[in-house]
Amino acid sequence: MELDHVVPWGRSFEEYQRMFNLAPADLDKRILGCGDGSASFNATLTARGCRVVSCDPVYRFSPEAIRRRVDAVYPEIMAKVWANASNYLWDELGTVEQLGEVRMAAMTDFLADFTEGCEQGRYCDAALPDLPFEDAAFDLALCSHYLFLYSDHLDEEGHLQGMRELCRVAKEVRVFPLVALDGHHSRHLDAVMAALADEGIRTSLEPVDYRFQKGATEMLVATRA
Ligand SMILES: C[S@@+](CC[C@H](N)C(=O)[O-])C[C@H]1O[C@@H](n2cnc3c(N)ncnc32)[C@H](O)[C@@H]1O
Repeated sequence: MELDHVVPWGRSFEEYQRMFNLAPADLDKRILGCGDGSASFNATLTARGCRVVSCDPVYRFSPEAIRRRVDAVYPEIMAKVWANASNYLWDELGTVEQLGEVRMAAMTDFLADFTEGCEQGRYCDAALPDLPFEDAAFDLALCSHYLFLYSDHLDEEGHLQGMRELCRVAKEVRVFPLVALDGHHSRHLDAVMAALADEGIRTSLEPVDYRFQKGATEMLVATRA
């Protein structure tokens, strides 16, 4: 992974709570955040005394290098959001500027926690489809804005391998969103759900109340029988 190709844009703990219907009992579980990038999910959850590990290939870089990349690409990302503002619902986040503030605050919280979190093994440089964790090491794995969103970058087999691996390391897996970058339902979703069912993994689509990308209203839940 080249840092020049990374576009850091992290979400907040509150957004994770709503994207994944996280109930208070879920927060007592051993949680894996796969592809957490510069989200503040791990930092906030850890501050609350919860058990969480985040894995992402971007964690091989130093906090200084990630910060430089955040600052370098921020204006570019904001310009893209402006240009595509009609693809999103603004009732909750308000304006493009407010969105930028929420994202930047999340990334700042992540960066402040990153060095200590690496020392504690809470941030792990690892990527799907091969994660360095034991079978069922986690009760719950969450994958936000990676699988299915990048349906043009990762093919059906890549999605299936990723889901299989998450189901190996966690008893339950939740993935959001299920629409691709173009706002349409991922073309890999049905085939991946069917293939997982053949392997004894139960899947269902559950409504969530998080609203931002148009069409993104459900998460995928997968559990090994
Ligand atoms: C759009 S960001 C989402 C960040 C965070 N989950 C959030 O919702 O704010 C996508 C993340 O997926 C990570 N990623 C890319 N390839 C990956 C892989 N093979 N396995 C796990 N994560 C990957 C990227 O490094 C990036 O941090």
